[in-house]
Amino acid sequence: MSLEHLLWVEKYRPRRIDDIIDQEEVKKRIKEFLKTGNLPHMLFYGPPGVGKTTMALAIAYELYGDSWRENVLELNASDERGISVIRERVKEFARTAPMGKAPFKLVILDEADNMTSDAQQALRRLMEMYAGNTRFILIANYVSRIIDPIQSRCAMFRFSPLPKDVALARLREIAKCEGLEVSDDGLEAIWDISQGDMRKAINTLQAAAAISKKITAEVVYKTVGYIEPREVLELLETLIHSGFIKARDKLRQIMYEYGVSGKDIIRIFQRELMKGTIDTTDEGKIELMELASDIDYRLTEGCDEEIQMLAFLSKLQLIAKKYGIKIKTGKGVEEVKKVEETTAEASKETTKKTTTKKKKSSSS
Ligand SMILES: Nc1ncnc2c1ncn2[C@@H]1O[C@H](COP(=O)(O)OP(=O)(O)O)[C@@H](O)[C@H]1O
Ligand SMILES: [Mg+2]
Repeated sequence: MSLEHLLWVEKYRPRRIDDIIDQEEVKKRIKEFLKTGNLPHMLFYGPPGVGKTTMALAIAYELYGDSWRENVLELNASDERGISVIRERVKEFARTAPMGKAPFKLVILDEADNMTSDAQQALRRLMEMYAGNTRFILIANYVSRIIDPIQSRCAMFRFSPLPKDVALARLREIAKCEGLEVSDDGLEAIWDISQGDMRKAINTLQAAAAISKKITAEVVYKTVGYIEPREVLELLETLIHSGFIKARDKLRQIMYEYGVSGKDIIRIFQRELMKGTIDTTDEGKIELMELASDIDYRLTEGCDEEIQMLAFLSKLQLIAKKYGIKIKTGKGVEEVKKVEETTAEASKETTKKTTTKKKKSSSS
């Protein structure tokens, strides 16, 4: 089987403009240009994995049909060694006439925003020099990094992050074609990881499918070495209701089991705090944010991970005592009492083995 079909991002790359999901405004304008039979130079910009390259290739397919490959030069501004290589390759490519009905050939230059402004100036001259029989499609993540003289010579197309419902619907389709069973929480997990980046979403689905045909949140998070947010929330509940020692054991267990770093845990902690799943007073929130950024900074600086994470837990415990912290689940606010009940039940099970070191927590 060819590589194209081994990688689902390629296998499920839409070939035609109409099959590209969302990006309605872009599709509409591009179709209008295509109707006229002429194309301007174009600049596609937006976040990764939302259809920029796919659109460029779909245009090529629209223009040249099956002989699109002969009429398209795909370059990557980051891969190629500088503008001189780009110049040589464009020169070589533009030497021969286009095949088929379109009077020009297509140069697709990815990651154009990684070029220095000098290189971009040279690129602009190149675009002018070969405008007779080539059109450029420049692709970038950040439009602000493209120099004005290029922007003013291109029709600009802004690609947006894919909305959740269409992205998940697409994933469901792919899962169906591949004979997978994906649970709703499995899809949520993929969304959580990919956030509108379809390349990441499809790659995650494929990686999870290599492990199990039944894809749940647990499978998803484990395959990508991510920790489930739920695990972090449980860690906090353990800390608040069962104390430091239990929380330390839980921390070690999840770091080992999921193979995640302290930074991953802090990142999830921060996100849940922003979401309000971890709730406290305004002062408490400020202290928690400060704590998270301190620990994150020290981990970045290369401090010992275990020491930092234990310091994180103990400081967190102090803040919890000072302001009170509530953990909310997806089902709504759980009262602290209820949380205590469930953690007490859970700890009954986990303490069966280690009943010796207990203080007075089982007195209820
Ligand atoms: N709008 C979209 N509609 C359908 N599939 C998409 C879309 N955007 C991305 N994809 C999927 O994600 C993969 C990567 O998309 P691509 O167009 O290469 O992203 P980028 O915007 O980074 O150039 C594609 O092969 C395709 O499978
Ligand atoms: Mg791309």
